[in-house]
Amino acid sequence: MRVLSGMQPSGQLHLGNYFGSMKPNLEWQNKAEQTFYFVADLHALTTVQDRDALRKSREDIVLDYLACGFDPKKSIIYYQSHIPEHTELMWILMTIMPMGLLERAVSYKDKVSKGLQPSVGLFTYPVLMAADILMYDANIVPVGKDQKQHVEFARDIAVKFNNTFGETLVIPEPEVAKEVAVVPGTDGQKMSKSYGNTIPLFGEEAAIKKSIMGIVTDSKGMNDAKDPEACIIYQIHKLFLNADQAKALADEYRNGLPYGDAKKKLFSTYMDYFMAMREKRVKITPAQAREVVESGAKRAKSVAIGTMAKVRAAVGLL
Ligand code: ADP
Ligand code: TRP
Repeated sequence: MRVLSGMQPSGQLHLGNYFGSMKPNLEWQNKAEQTFYFVADLHALTTVQDRDALRKSREDIVLDYLACGFDPKKSIIYYQSHIPEHTELMWILMTIMPMGLLERAVSYKDKVSKGLQPSVGLFTYPVLMAADILMYDANIVPVGKDQKQHVEFARDIAVKFNNTFGETLVIPEPEVAKEVAVVPGTDGQKMSKSYGNTIPLFGEEAAIKKSIMGIVTDSKGMNDAKDPEACIIYQIHKLFLNADQAKALADEYRNGLPYGDAKKKLFSTYMDYFMAMREKRVKITPAQAREVVESGAKRAKSVAIGTMAKVRAAVGLL
C-alpha cells in the first residue's frame, strides 16, 4: 500500500491543515508500506508571486512536517519542483483530460468567485495534482474534503489513460477523515490560508491567542445556555478531545459556560497539545530541512523515472 499527499507552500500552516491532512497522514506513516509527502511548490505559483515568501514558506513546511512527526526514515519528503517529471506527466495527462471535467472543478470556481484572476495554471491545477499522485502509484491520498474532487479527477484520468493506452497507472482513492472533514475558521467559514481566518500551527503564542480570542460567537449573555453544536469554539475544541471529553465540554456549554472562558480553555488545550511539537520545531535547523528534501528528491526521482519510462512507452514516445 502506497500513501501520498502534498501541501502547498502558500502561507503559514494552520489547524485545518493539521487535522484535515497532517494528522491522518501521520497515522498512515506507521501503517503503509511506503509514504510520500511533498511540498507542492509548483502549485503555489498559481497564487504566490513573491519569491522570498515562496522560499520561506516552502522551507517552513518542511520544518513543520518534521516537528509534527513526519520522519524521513519512514517517508519520502521532497519538493515537487525537484522532480521535473511531474510537469512532463502533466502534459501527457492534459492531452486526454476532458475540458468539461476541469470546468466542473469546485476549487477553481471557488477561487475565481473570490476574485482571483484565473490563469491557465490555476485552471489546469488539478492535472498537475493528478500527475503528482499517479507518478508514485499511490493507492490512497489522504486530504481534507475540499481536495477530494481533485483526487477523484486523478482517479478518472488514470482509468481513461489505462483504457486508452493499456494498464499502466495505479488507480488512487481519496481518503477524507470524516469527523474533521472541514475545520471551521475563526469566522465560521472553512479555515483557509486565503481567508485570513486561521489559527496558526506554529506561530507566536500571542498570535495564536489573538486568533482564538477573535473567534466569532453569537450574542448570548455570559451565563446563558449555549448550543455547543452551533458554536465555532466548541467545533474547534472538540478536534482535540476524545468522545467522553467532548461530551463533558458540551455539557459545560449547555450549563452556561461564558464564551470568554470557553476561548481560554481552548487556548490552553491548544498549547498543551502542540507543546512538544513547538519545542521540537525550534531545534530543527534549515540545514537539516535541506538535507531531508535533497535525499527525498533522490528517492522520489528514482520512482518517477520508472513511471515515466512506462508512460512514454505506453503513449509511443519510447
Ligand atoms: P488552504 O485552504 O489553507 O490554502 P490547502 O489548500 O493548502 O489549505 O490545504 C492543504 C491540506 O489541508 C489539504 O489536504 C486540505 O484539504 C487540508 N485543509 C485545508 N483547510 C482545511 C480545513 N479547514 N479543514 C480540513 N482540512 C483542511
Ligand atoms: N492541492 C493540494 C492542496 O491545496 C496540494 C496538493 C498538490 C496535493 N498535489 C497533491 C495533495 C497531490 C494531495 C496529492 O491542498
